[in-house]
Amino acid sequence: MPLPLVLQSHPLPKDWVQALEGRACVLVGLEAAEDALGEVEGLLSLLTLPVNAALLDRMPKLRVVSNMAVGVDNVDRSACAARGIPVGHTPGVLTAATADLTFALLLAAARNLPAARRDAQEGRWSTWSPTGWLGADLEEATLGIIGLGAIGQAVARRARGFGMSVVYTAPRAKPEAEAQLDVRRVELAELLQTADFVSLHCPLNDATHHLIDADALARMKPNAILVNAARGPVVDQEALLAALRGGEIAGAALDVTTPEPLEPEHPLFSEPRCLILPHIGSATFGTRRAMAELAVENLLAGLEGRPLPREVR
Ligand code: DGY
Repeated sequence: MPLPLVLQSHPLPKDWVQALEGRACVLVGLEAAEDALGEVEGLLSLLTLPVNAALLDRMPKLRVVSNMAVGVDNVDRSACAARGIPVGHTPGVLTAATADLTFALLLAAARNLPAARRDAQEGRWSTWSPTGWLGADLEEATLGIIGLGAIGQAVARRARGFGMSVVYTAPRAKPEAEAQLDVRRVELAELLQTADFVSLHCPLNDATHHLIDADALARMKPNAILVNAARGPVVDQEALLAALRGGEIAGAALDVTTPEPLEPEHPLFSEPRCLILPHIGSATFGTRRAMAELAVENLLAGLEGRPLPREVR
């Protein structure tokens, strides 16, 4: 039997996708596969590849899409469903790394780390100053989590360890998580009005696109810090820029932007109270390898006609 043809949309370290050896014939990169798309049976995609109807139409033999990410907003799921193609993703394995990075953002923004480092390096550290580089306390502050899935819960757990109170919004109540983590569900308006830190952990979809718009930002406390490690378009960036410039909120820490990469000339980069990272929430050696391995498991299951271990429902 000839091996099924797989398109791996981007290069990955060989040992992360080792399980494909002997089980699939792999082409790496859309360009390399251009002439063979008609024969491709499995797609291993990154979140940077739009898997849309136009691409799917060029792969009539496709039997599985496996996205190496938990988020699948780059995949047109209805187009896949219409063609009977299951979509796999990689939840779970990146929860801790993403929650850790969220906390790194939160701490860095709360304690002005980027400005403090710059000042130290550029000669503005003349003495120990009682009033220099003051930031916000975490202990007894309120964290508002938007989206209490696995990552939101892992962030809540960390926040409780720092002595913070935690409120959350989610489409459905999570009584188990509420009891375990001592967190309270509130309406979005209350969360925005009471939280000292607002952290986004919802998927990007029609309901969450620009969820944090001018109106939401205006409701936030002037000392509040917005953290986004979810997806860029959950925040209206123009509104965020205006809110930072107008002092409506105290700061923002973003691991995700619109677009990605954000052009270095973008005015948000010049905002002293805005920290921007290049979408590194899951970027640890162990996590990225685990994501690739799970994506390969999903892919092989789809190729072999088995249920995907982690199918998007
Ligand atoms: C995801 O998995 O959706 C993250 O954004 C990247 O790890």
